[in-house]
Amino acid sequence: MSYQIAVLAGDGIGPEVMTEARKVLKEVEQRFGLSIEYSEYDVGGIAIDNHGSPLPEHTIKGCEAADAILFGSVGGPKWEHLAPDSQPERGALLPLRAHFELFCNLRPAKLHQGLEHMSPLRSDISARGFDVLCVRELTGGIYFGKPKGRQGEGESEEAFDTMRYSRKEIRRIAQIAFEAARGRKQKVTSVDKANVLACSVLWRQVVEEVAVNYPDVTLEHIYIDNATMQLLRRPNEFDVMLCSNLFGDILSDEIAMLTGSMGLLSSASMNGTGFGLYEPAGGSAPDIAGQGVANPVAQILSAALMLRHSLKQEEAASAIERGVAKALEAGYLTAELLSADERSQAKSTTQMGDYIAAAIREGV
Ligand code: NAD
Ligand code: IPM
Ligand code: MN
Repeated sequence: MSYQIAVLAGDGIGPEVMTEARKVLKEVEQRFGLSIEYSEYDVGGIAIDNHGSPLPEHTIKGCEAADAILFGSVGGPKWEHLAPDSQPERGALLPLRAHFELFCNLRPAKLHQGLEHMSPLRSDISARGFDVLCVRELTGGIYFGKPKGRQGEGESEEAFDTMRYSRKEIRRIAQIAFEAARGRKQKVTSVDKANVLACSVLWRQVVEEVAVNYPDVTLEHIYIDNATMQLLRRPNEFDVMLCSNLFGDILSDEIAMLTGSMGLLSSASMNGTGFGLYEPAGGSAPDIAGQGVANPVAQILSAALMLRHSLKQEEAASAIERGVAKALEAGYLTAELLSADERSQAKSTTQMGDYIAAAIREGV
């Protein structure tokens, strides 16, 4: 089989961590005899600079011609002065998600064995470990609801966003969560704010309807505020967390940090056809960009998700995951995972990619 991948590295640490993901992909291609062709396109701030638009037409065309998109990250201080819709995030990433109807976002987070000390959790809690899959609705809710905008002047000026969900949108993402739970610990925790929001009342109702078809899966509901707290108190009791767009965005940074770093959380955004966009859950990290210290693991694990979900190359995907686990468990770590007095032993972005690539080459 031969595959076409559109590579959109973007801004900040995007190109740095993408280089490492490409290095690791090259190893699995050789080891598993895959033939993958890559085409690179500008997106985000770099595309504004080079082409005057965060999402140029040729970038969309390149993505349409591909089997999947491997995405880095977009945005940064350089483009924050632009009108909101012209900025990299709202002008490129959200339109890409909408264009390909990538409604299903999976963000898997687990605390690696032996790495409990990397988590900010209290030691008796981290000792129990956790393995959570955040299933986030990605093309609806308050991100995309209309009307959205500003009106009026002076002290009367106001801004508004609309949170809106249809039964269809809730049902299709809930089905994904229940299906995922079947292959895991058979538990879905649906996160909402049904004590306040009309959208959440409908959300609960539809999730309950879907649950009837999955009698083998336990369903519980939790309010978002309580969920953020319970994740710190008993993360090991969660399995699949089903979230609307905004709540999933917030919870995913929390679960990333519980594993030790934002630089560990990968993400798959799919539309049910096999096509998908794969990107780290974190951003362009302007505070560390250009220094060669960013953790490439989230980008590398996103490449593994691409192999699993779009290319259906499970063996290659799990080899990458084993390579990453080997590095982390050997204490081979980038700076943000180390305390100040351990930091002199920190590995660079490149060293991390080299280690994982070598592990794959050696048959991990
Ligand atoms: P961020 O995720 O870029 O950074 C938050 C913190 O996490 C920073 O301290 C950063 O150094 C750290 N971090 C993130 N990834 C890391 C990695 N791989 N290795 C080590 N440390 C890492 O979030 P932010 O600062 O709120 O946003 C910066 C820019 O990125 C903004 O323009 C934002 O809109 C954008 N953003 C883009 C995406 C995306 O393209 N998918 C996602 C989130 C944020
Ligand atoms: C993410 C990011 C994006 C989001 C931003 C950059 C639009 O934070 O993928 O989590 O809010 O979805
Ligand atoms: Mn986010």
